[in-house]
Amino acid sequence: MSVFERAQPGHFYAVGVGPGSPDLLTLRAARLVETADVILAPRSRVAAESMALKTVQALISGQEVIDQVYVMQRDIEKTMSVWMDVARQIARRCETGQSVVQITLGDPLIYSTSCYLLPLVRNALPEGCVHAVPGISAFQATACLLDEVLTIQEDRMMLMTAGDVEQVEKALDQCETLVLYKAGRHMAELADLLERRGLLDRSSLVCYAEQEDREFISANLRDVAAMEHGYMATVIVHVGRRAWNHVERTETENRFV
Ligand SMILES: C[S@@+](CC[C@H](N)C(=O)[O-])C[C@H]1O[C@@H](n2cnc3c(N)ncnc32)[C@H](O)[C@@H]1O
Repeated sequence: MSVFERAQPGHFYAVGVGPGSPDLLTLRAARLVETADVILAPRSRVAAESMALKTVQALISGQEVIDQVYVMQRDIEKTMSVWMDVARQIARRCETGQSVVQITLGDPLIYSTSCYLLPLVRNALPEGCVHAVPGISAFQATACLLDEVLTIQEDRMMLMTAGDVEQVEKALDQCETLVLYKAGRHMAELADLLERRGLLDRSSLVCYAEQEDREFISANLRDVAAMEHGYMATVIVHVGRRAWNHVERTETENRFV
């Protein structure tokens, strides 16, 4: 039997649960959540509830749920010491034969708390007992809501956070599609930059994609620059299409640009 059929005793799984809608959970993720002894649901202190937990709520019956509140901080040493403690707790559970599933929004290997935990837990458990399970990432859900083609042919796509606008401007010269995570607090400066670069009408914002009535979509960053957007805000900038930038386009090609 595959280690993904059901959560195995003594194993740890970092499971991506997708952007927030239960029907965007993978079958593998659902099976592991249903069969785990312990579900670990980290949430930052500012979040009133764990969106990841809400996503899998219908699958919880009898599993122990650990609502693990953490403080977001920039200091890497402090951050790692928090996750070191959590990794020790997970290892202790696994050593007694329990299976532990950490749930995380989107994909566990993209800007996720699992990125801290996975290597630490791997150091503490026998080989083959630690697993990452992919989830649908926010950029995929966002692009689908926007009906936005992300890449064709030789296009380059870049994924980064929006905090450093100088770096964002450099990235615009390096790719055909730019995805900006954690964009909520930077909308005004992003709108200024994108307007200056003639890309304002090629940029869109999606907040809380696939999260019921919180979902918010805007194709005009200038209009929404002064609004509060919260943490779950992703911007996609459609910079251009690589293969077709310097050639005369046919009518068919024009439809994709
Ligand atoms: C800590 S990262 C988590 C990324 C996640 N692991 C993923 O693969 O999508 C948080 C950022 O992801 C983006 N994000 C996550 N879920 C989102 C959603 N449902 N709608 C829009 N953006 C989302 C936002 O840019 C947010 O600031």
